[in-house]
Amino acid sequence: MSPSSPPPARRTWDRLRELAEITAPGDGVSRDGYSAYERLAQDLVGAWMRDAGLSVTRDHAGNLRGRVAGRDPLLPAVWVGSHLDSVPGGGRFDGAYGVVGGLAAVEAATGGETPLRSIELVAFACEEGARFGTGLLGSRGLVEGWADVDVDALVDRDGVSLRAALASVGLDAEAVRAPSLTPGSVHCFVELHVEQGPVLDTAAATIGVVSAIAAPTYLRVRFEGAAGHAGTTPMVGRRDALVGAAEAILEVERAARSYDGAAVSTVGFLAVHPNSANVIPGSVTFSVDVRALDADTKRRLVEEIAAGLQRTAQARSLQLSVATLADLAPVACHPPIQGAVRDAATSLGLPWLDMPSGAYHDAMAMSRVCPVGMVFVPSARGLSHVAEEWTSPDDLEHGVDVLAEVLRTLASTTGIEGAG
Ligand code: HGY
Ligand code: MN
Ligand code: MN
Repeated sequence: MSPSSPPPARRTWDRLRELAEITAPGDGVSRDGYSAYERLAQDLVGAWMRDAGLSVTRDHAGNLRGRVAGRDPLLPAVWVGSHLDSVPGGGRFDGAYGVVGGLAAVEAATGGETPLRSIELVAFACEEGARFGTGLLGSRGLVEGWADVDVDALVDRDGVSLRAALASVGLDAEAVRAPSLTPGSVHCFVELHVEQGPVLDTAAATIGVVSAIAAPTYLRVRFEGAAGHAGTTPMVGRRDALVGAAEAILEVERAARSYDGAAVSTVGFLAVHPNSANVIPGSVTFSVDVRALDADTKRRLVEEIAAGLQRTAQARSLQLSVATLADLAPVACHPPIQGAVRDAATSLGLPWLDMPSGAYHDAMAMSRVCPVGMVFVPSARGLSHVAEEWTSPDDLEHGVDVLAEVLRTLASTTGIEGAG
């Protein structure tokens, strides 16, 4: 590892600004998973990893990986990281901060002496559900494989399949079918991330100690009616797929509101066919994203939404198809790792707060094979998944300092209670 000079302050801020320039045209950052933009961002971060002395590889699922060898290479490594892809028009901090800040923390934690355990820094591919309607594809590819992911049926807004997207960046979707990480092969995983909500900003706390991670269920809904001439077709008897979708989407919102904050649901994607001003819409496809910290609550809301879709289809003589693209389970963060985050924040004199994550993260996938923990820093005004996403340079550094302390602790022990 490089000499023990800690990374210069604001380097994380400067690197995130440089990364933000790797984007499709338009406001904010648009870096689709398994796109040339994500690949360019990985190439830049890979160069930073190499400069810091990490050995860098890219795996079969498209994840970028940098490793610092520990004194005992036989011990399962401590993993740290996040993702470099973004939502369309997103912010420069979501995901990228956990990779760039993760690198700064790895340098700070290992600059002086070689840790007992190896540390693996990962930029997971395609974490966002933005491109293919389901997320965590790079990390799920490692921990569970894609045996039940239909890589030909999952297509993006331009009709490009997941299989074709991987091929466009030199990857073979067939190689991702089976998992490559098994329980116990990783000691633990810690993810640094901006909160993406208003809790820390409102509470004027600097560090979020994440207790649990809400999980998504992703549905893809299609209403099929009858296209027709907008001018000559009487109103009575129309089977307008878009009007049906509009009614159903209002019902999705009503159902979610009735859970008083215990669950949320969003329709973020909608495609109308043939999408012409003078043609009655024949078919409509839209996404439904349902989140909750409690699995039973999420299941009940999904069932309620599905029943509402059926009622609308019947009432309007529309054909309905509903595909479940993902149905993930909420995750509890490992208490000993939460304790390490609290201790680190306290030793640095930083006010911390225990809190759940309403957003999902790669830590959710990694929990399939090892204990996980997360460190949050504030998002100004709670904004994220928009260009206005912002975190102060000082808060970025505070998160890096806490993560460095946590990595020192986790990479120096021979175990964590209740883990391999
Ligand atoms: O959508 C999410 O929760 C995450 O930001 N990918
Ligand atoms: Mn993220
Ligand atoms: Mn995100």
